[in-house]
Amino acid sequence: MEPLHRPRRLRRSPVLRALVRETTLAPHQFIAPLFVTHGASVRHPIPSMPGVHQLSVDASLDAEVDALVAAGVRSVLLFGIPAQKDPVGRENFARDGIVSRAIRHLKDRHPELLIMTDVCCCEYTDHGHCGILTAHGEVDNDRTLQVLAQVAVAHAQAGADVLAPSGMMDGMVGAMREGLDQAGYADRAILSYAVKYASAYYGPFRDAAGSTPSFGDRRQYQMDPANLREARREVDLDEAEGADMLMVKPALAYLDVVREVRERSDLPLVCYNVSGEYAMVKAAVAAGWLDERRIVLETLLGMRRAGADAIITYHALDAARWLAEENA
Ligand code: PBG
Ligand code: ZN
Repeated sequence: MEPLHRPRRLRRSPVLRALVRETTLAPHQFIAPLFVTHGASVRHPIPSMPGVHQLSVDASLDAEVDALVAAGVRSVLLFGIPAQKDPVGRENFARDGIVSRAIRHLKDRHPELLIMTDVCCCEYTDHGHCGILTAHGEVDNDRTLQVLAQVAVAHAQAGADVLAPSGMMDGMVGAMREGLDQAGYADRAILSYAVKYASAYYGPFRDAAGSTPSFGDRRQYQMDPANLREARREVDLDEAEGADMLMVKPALAYLDVVREVRERSDLPLVCYNVSGEYAMVKAAVAAGWLDERRIVLETLLGMRRAGADAIITYHALDAARWLAEENA
């Protein structure tokens, strides 16, 4: 039997394969999440996320960011660990809050670095929820919007380029846009965590950021993992409220959602390769069961192929270095 068609002809050599390759992976497509904390010379490891550390805003942070920049990663996403937590999370919008300090420090050292900040309450509130609570212990959506607008303005004032609300509050994009515009920051972009599911994959992150809710869970604001149509609705609303970019999170178990959002909206799309996805790979690699370099690059490529323009990933530095080696 002679086949009529032979797709294998285009797989015969590396050059031919490169010529017909449909999807690219490059360091400038990666956004590196960073956990910034108070103190001096802190490089505190996160046990469930080998290779990830809480970093103080000094040589500890510099070493990490210098390495990223040298490897071609041009964007970071900052998360803050405050000195103190309280019901509204005051350090979140304080001028001298940990994230604002980190922004000023980084802008000074790397003026060209794109600085994104996570805008949420859970790392800063003593109850660990993503918003301000009512007397009955429920998240007060509209009261939280005021805080998010305040936080966005504080981060913009410190020099943040992109504000990324992650709390899944209704109206969060509109409230932040209005706050930023009124404060004279019409030029700063909003990357909305538009489609964020209530996921077990955030477990290790909550160790890293100290943001596990003290009671209940986040299912009253984050999305049900079973829902796809609802994702379209969230995308339409955030676009209407003025989001500049959209995010789908987590990534790995939600690549169908990434594809759906890609087709739904013309806004740039980011996916978040979250902490639990990172932890699974690291654990299997530590056991000797997977080839780290190949598994990571294949996973990131899959996210790009699904439709993501950029990827937030804890593998950013390693992946950027591996890509540089491949192209050398
Ligand atoms: C805060 C926030 C979370 C993550 C990003 N921003 C945790 C959560 O919503 O519980 C998760 C990131 C990760 O798992 O890597 N709202
Ligand atoms: Zn939160």
